[in-house]
Amino acid sequence: MKSKELFEEAKKYLVGGVNSPVRYFEPYPFFVDRGEGCYIYDVDGNKYIDYCLAYGPLVLGHCNEIVIKEVIEQIRKGSTFGCPTEKEIELAKLVVSYVPSAEKVRFVNSGTEATMSAIRLARGYTGRKKIIKFDGAYHGAHDYVLVKSGSGALTHGAPNSLGIPEETVKNTILVPFNDEDAVEKAIKENKDEIACIMVEPVMANVGCILPKNGFLKFLREITEEEGILLIFDEVITGFRLARGGAQEYFNVIPDITTLGKILGGGYPIGAIAGKEEIMNNFSPLGKVYQAGTFNGNPVSVTAGIATLKQLDDEFYKKTFKFAETLANTLRDLIEKYNIEARVYNIGSMFQIYFNKEDVINYDIAKKSDIKMFMNYFYELLKRGVFIPPSQFECCFTCIKHGEALEKTINVLEEVFKKLKE
Ligand SMILES: Cc1ncc(COP(=O)(O)O)c(C=O)c1O
Repeated sequence: MKSKELFEEAKKYLVGGVNSPVRYFEPYPFFVDRGEGCYIYDVDGNKYIDYCLAYGPLVLGHCNEIVIKEVIEQIRKGSTFGCPTEKEIELAKLVVSYVPSAEKVRFVNSGTEATMSAIRLARGYTGRKKIIKFDGAYHGAHDYVLVKSGSGALTHGAPNSLGIPEETVKNTILVPFNDEDAVEKAIKENKDEIACIMVEPVMANVGCILPKNGFLKFLREITEEEGILLIFDEVITGFRLARGGAQEYFNVIPDITTLGKILGGGYPIGAIAGKEEIMNNFSPLGKVYQAGTFNGNPVSVTAGIATLKQLDDEFYKKTFKFAETLANTLRDLIEKYNIEARVYNIGSMFQIYFNKEDVINYDIAKKSDIKMFMNYFYELLKRGVFIPPSQFECCFTCIKHGEALEKTINVLEEVFKKLKE
């Protein structure tokens, strides 16, 4: 049990033995040796079909040959310079050509940095202080948005983190997702004070909550009417639901988009993209300060270019089909075994909630049977299928999952049989 030993050792030096809370599950997480395609291998010699995929970035699976080749070439030239490189232009051009709202781009190092800077940009541009976010939405681990937050914050019982002064979040207004009346009310009560609405178009950090028909369009219209900027946090949905992300998929174009994950092809990156008139408020052109030693890091940028160029129509067709097949399998199984649950799926994303109600927002998602979900997780794990160890995360398919689909379906059948026992 090398993972167990490593975890004991890790705990001596790393807080809780992990570097991000989502990675922990009881009694200890497995330690990874390597990845290949849709599989990861742990240090104990176990092989898992991976539907976590590092929480989203690895749409081409682990160790894509083209990405590896390009990254190695770049590493030989240098890892970081603190000076511009031509590849930053190339990646920015790809973002601008793919993402409908993107006229200009600023690369940062993570999704967290992207949402933090996007909010600052919206405040700087509008001269307003307040922001609206949705209950349970996770936009990274910074102070403006770590209120009623999803993902690991919710899983590990800290949706409102300690250490964030009231003064910092008094300008963050919370409303339930999919609730047009609540949005209208919040805007009315804070007339001319709201800089932006930040929304994750599909709430992947509370599982997989879909926007109701017309909800995103409603947000677009009301923000336009009220002089509020609409920010789509597409750190997960970007390049996933379409080359142009959720905004292309739903045909609703925000003012600002935040990106990450897939954009770096498995290497750390984030980006803010948007209308030129707004983006030009970032330093050095404008007065909204934004900077970073590793911004536009050449290794991440190289991996991003190599990844984005591989996202052809075939990629979307296949990854969508894989997720749909698994979601339909889950739907059949809950019916067959008469288990109270809901399954949601869009593009290459899917999740099950052990819940009686339709999961349309955070409050309903929280009522899910978490114990049942964790049983489902452990039974899958025992049989070589790895999903994120939380009800409040989303499962993803990659281009390599075709070869593992049949095995996954068989495992799911066994797991449901077991859950019903
Ligand atoms: C929608 C969304 N926004 C922002 C973030 C933060 O990104 P990062 O973990 O790269 O800081 C995440 C991370 O999961 C996310 O899912």
